[in-house]
Amino acid sequence: MSFIVAIDGPAGTGKGTITKLLAEKLNLITVDTGATYRCVTLAMLKQHISLEEADKITKLLENIQIEFKKIDGKDRVFLNGKDVTMEIRSKEVTDFVSQVSSLICVRLKMVELQRKMAQGKDVIMEGRDIGTYVFPNANVKFYIDADVEERAKRRVEQNKQKGIQTSYEEVLANLKFRDQNDKQKEMGALKVAEDAIVIDTTHMSIEEEMQMMLPIIQKRRSENCE
Ligand code: DC
Repeated sequence: MSFIVAIDGPAGTGKGTITKLLAEKLNLITVDTGATYRCVTLAMLKQHISLEEADKITKLLENIQIEFKKIDGKDRVFLNGKDVTMEIRSKEVTDFVSQVSSLICVRLKMVELQRKMAQGKDVIMEGRDIGTYVFPNANVKFYIDADVEERAKRRVEQNKQKGIQTSYEEVLANLKFRDQNDKQKEMGALKVAEDAIVIDTTHMSIEEEMQMMLPIIQKRRSENCE
């Protein structure tokens, strides 16, 4: 029997950070679903495929291979056998990914892949539609939110640590654009699941967030084992 923790919310709320920390504490496998959409986006950019070229996108999706591996304790993302962990965070990918992830054919394929990745496992999966669409029966659902200005500040800092130089203004504009686009998607739109626990992290430290989420997951997990 698998145990699924769903973490949804807009970009830059720190979902990735808290997901990793919780996964380590609870020995859960992490699945970053945003990274799967970023891989498709990178593949399209590399092959110069536009959003309108449906046949080419279908072909690309038929052959795509996306894998998550832990190497020397670090999460790495592989696209068709190549490590693209850093490349999928580039500005080009970030600017285009929301539109690519709006394509129905892309969503169907990625959701199929995400469900396979979780089969029979205990996972913590982060994204936009995990609690509403990918795993509507997830054991625990969180919706993480924060003010967009605070999210932009955090993302600039995070990029800096990864060696990616971005200005506050460009990050803020991208977040606002993605928020709007992600909420209006025909399929897999960003919304709060009815049974999700909503956490606003604008004025919260990662430690406080952890203290709030950890016991909830632990309690549900022990109930799941009974
Ligand atoms: O979490 P992220 O910033 O890496 O996600 C990149 C994009 O992918 C984001 O703009 C929305 C999209 N996405 C999605 O549509 N559904 C998901 N489950 C995860 C991400």
